[in-house]
Amino acid sequence: MVACRRSKRVFSGIQPTGNLTLGNYLGALKRFVEIQDSGVETIYCLVDLHAITTWQNPAELSDATREAAAGFMASGIDPARSILFNQSQVPAHSELAWIFNCVARMGWLGRMTQFKDKAGKNRENASVGLFAYPALMAADILVYHATHVPVGDDQKQHLELTRDIAIKFNNDFEVDFFPVIEPIIEGTATRVMSLRDGTKKMSKSDPSDMSRINLTDDSNKIAAKIRKAKTDSAPVPESPDGLVGRHEAANLLHIFAALSDQSIETITSEFGGRMFSEFKAVLTELAVDRIGPVTAELNRLMKDPAEIDRILASGAEQATLIAEPIVRQTHDIVGMIGSR
Ligand code: AMP
Ligand code: TRP
Repeated sequence: MVACRRSKRVFSGIQPTGNLTLGNYLGALKRFVEIQDSGVETIYCLVDLHAITTWQNPAELSDATREAAAGFMASGIDPARSILFNQSQVPAHSELAWIFNCVARMGWLGRMTQFKDKAGKNRENASVGLFAYPALMAADILVYHATHVPVGDDQKQHLELTRDIAIKFNNDFEVDFFPVIEPIIEGTATRVMSLRDGTKKMSKSDPSDMSRINLTDDSNKIAAKIRKAKTDSAPVPESPDGLVGRHEAANLLHIFAALSDQSIETITSEFGGRMFSEFKAVLTELAVDRIGPVTAELNRLMKDPAEIDRILASGAEQATLIAEPIVRQTHDIVGMIGSR
């Protein structure tokens, strides 16, 4: 029997729904680029099959997929060094997901907080895909025998489920085939919060555009959103201890720390005692300085959608070369006959 690979391979995904936000950038994209630049093998995926677990307008889905691909490249993902593609172009994801649907238990999936949040009160009306979402996510990762998965804090529970699926499959079939993955949830911005409510995650799907900074926002918009961001009346504290219970203040300081690659301690000691109106002005300057070039490059790439489509097709071809043999071996382990 083929044994589990042990060398490091990184996989992560982002849903192509709506605009990429500063949360996606700091919690995910910026980290993806650092990992790519460290020389590790990296595979990054625009998970369009996950996107349709809630209704997506077809034309908007195509645009959002291209825009997300452009956002990856504008942030520094280089398709010559990372595999970049959209999920539906590699059928191996869906094939392995079916097998994992038969490994995962209803109870495990029913405990997922993202399902509970997204399904809301009317669970009977949620799509079956929304419920099975984490089994597809496990398939995304394990179909490459990836070992490490960088994500924001909100995906932690899904990655624990991925580990449980790998362990159960290996136990049920008495193999050492799927790796038990390691989440990478690191940095000062694993959970960027809404600019309007510091207890809620900054999200593409928030009805208020003022709650988030989009990678497509120009400098005027960024400035207006930071100026209007909610804070309390106290000044910036002298140390991180002074941030307890001050969600909005903590969020702005964490955003500054992440954008400037500094620790939160450095930021509180630098700005401690100053008023937030003053701090916001410096934060705006930094955000425009860091996000501006990404936005400009994203807009430039979006002028040639055919080139983006070619890059995604080429990424899908490379991804298929890795994923196909792993699905074939999985079928063999399960006892399915086939000659491909
Ligand atoms: P999604 O937009 O839900 O597909 O998320 C894509 C990636 O961005 C995942 O790794 C998320 O954990 C990360 N992410 C999304 N929103 C945030 C946020 N507000 N703060 C930090 N990371 C985030
Ligand atoms: N569920 C993730 C999110 O919403 C996106 C995702 C899908 C993903 N498949 C993945 C992330 C595999 C990491 C690895 O953010």
